[in-house]
Amino acid sequence: MQTDAGEDGRSKPMEFFNYKGVKFAKHMIFSEENLHFVENEFQVLDDDIYNVTYPKSGTTWMIEILSLICSNGDVAKAKIKTVPNYTRCPWYESTIGMKQIETLTPPRILTSHLPCHIFAKSFFTSNAKIIYTIRNPKDIIVSWYHYGKISLLLQCPEDFEEHLDCFLKGDFLYGSWFDHVWGWIQMKSSKNFFFITYEELQQDLRGSVMRICDFLGKKLDEAAIDSVLENTSFNIMKDNKMANYSYAGKSAVDLSKGSFMRKGISGDWKNQFTVAQSERFDRIYREKMKNFPVKFNWDED
Ligand code: A3P
Repeated sequence: MQTDAGEDGRSKPMEFFNYKGVKFAKHMIFSEENLHFVENEFQVLDDDIYNVTYPKSGTTWMIEILSLICSNGDVAKAKIKTVPNYTRCPWYESTIGMKQIETLTPPRILTSHLPCHIFAKSFFTSNAKIIYTIRNPKDIIVSWYHYGKISLLLQCPEDFEEHLDCFLKGDFLYGSWFDHVWGWIQMKSSKNFFFITYEELQQDLRGSVMRICDFLGKKLDEAAIDSVLENTSFNIMKDNKMANYSYAGKSAVDLSKGSFMRKGISGDWKNQFTVAQSERFDRIYREKMKNFPVKFNWDED
């Protein structure tokens, strides 16, 4: 995503606003007017596919997967080497995304971090589809912490303890992770909603891609599936300018300070959390996720 940041980094301290209980940054890609438009007037099309995530859950990975599935594994047709991911599959809730959408020819793949309660109302009476990717929140916290150091969009606390506190209080952009997953999981029985975890993608990418194809009603042959797997591998994406944000120049991230495609692993939280931080997180997690209708593999950790 692009920002109004200056050439050499963050231009000014970030200001925030609250839209229906959710925190947004007041820079050029978000505005209350646009969010109101997105929620109430944006016209979802029946053949739209929405890649929905809480930030740092595998959004960029799913953009590549969906781009390739929808093009039968054809790299040229998927435009993954020629068009930046944020233009190919725009964040529809951003003002920039709204403009980029005008250049798309349906069927569209759109990206969003919006919680369910402020998603476009027209989705709920359409035949459009949502793929919701969920990731172990401890890994999200770590991924976000490192992203904060290179992002010109975010200003994260430099102190990890403080960053963790903000997450647990829900004081993050796009609001509380707990609210996000509780909101979206209410859709789990809808035929238009499919959810998958980042960890499932990691453990069995082929099986995951086949499940996504089934949900989307796409029949890909073995060679096409092989192409999806090859071109969405961490190493290939890390080197792809159209996926690794180097194409965005210094408008979104400062890649001299780190990589957007950082580690791409599960369980990195173990290298960052202290035992006390992990125990504190677990206590709050257990309380907030009590009666959550789905069990995740990290619940056993
Ligand atoms: P890490 O910071 O843990 O490495 P998002 O796209 O939602 O912002 O999520 C970014 C996270 O997804 C980063 O995690 C990034 O490395 C990881 N990621 C992106 N593409 C990936 C891929 N092909 N395989 C594994 N992880 C990937």
